[in-house]
Amino acid sequence: MSRRSVIALGAGIAVLAAAGLVLAGFALVPARPRWVVPGDDPREIAAGAVLYQSNCASCHGAHLEGQPDWHEPGPDGLLPAPPHDATGHTWQHSDAELTELVTHSVASFAPAGYRTTMPAFEGKLSPAEIHATIAYIKSTWAPGIRAYQAAQNPGGPSLAELPGDWQFPPTCGYHFPTKVPAADRKS
Ligand code: HEC
Repeated sequence: MSRRSVIALGAGIAVLAAAGLVLAGFALVPARPRWVVPGDDPREIAAGAVLYQSNCASCHGAHLEGQPDWHEPGPDGLLPAPPHDATGHTWQHSDAELTELVTHSVASFAPAGYRTTMPAFEGKLSPAEIHATIAYIKSTWAPGIRAYQAAQNPGGPSLAELPGDWQFPPTCGYHFPTKVPAADRKS
């Protein structure tokens, strides 16, 4: 065997061995259930936490707890800000709905002329900043709530696929006055 073919053979064996190691590595990692939300980017979440505190916390609470008596309109006829934690309603919205709510306020969901203090953040926050803020809110949720929220997204897992061992939070009792978004009707 020429020196050249020995080198070629050696290289070939090395490539096969490397491919084998890669395949073995894949086999060792168990397939992830579809309802598990893919890992978040910690830098985006950290940026989102800062954006949340400066743009949202004044109404929705530093700990996402919302305003007191948020189910009922105040003396001014306006609804207080709901919580973004498990006791609220935010987790029952798809990603697209959450992005729409933060970008344009409740315009797409509420009847014409509906008054709210929820600002439209279009032009105040970039789409990336809105994404980061929502990513931060989501990062605070327990796995079951995250799984439920992931199931609201097109192409997300079906509710039947969700694990049976998570607690469904008590119903939040939050209702838009009319024209309830589709995602809310099923809960
Ligand atoms: C000035 C007060 C105020 C600020 C600031 C504010 N919100 Fe709101 N937000 C509200 C109110 C009030 C509602 C309820 C809207 C309604 O139904 O009238 C609301 C509703 C929402 C909802 C819908 C929740 C649900 O359960 O359907 C989301 C999501 C939301 N806000 C996100 C944000 C984010 C993210 C920020 C910061 C970037 C923010 N809000 C800043 C007052 C505020």
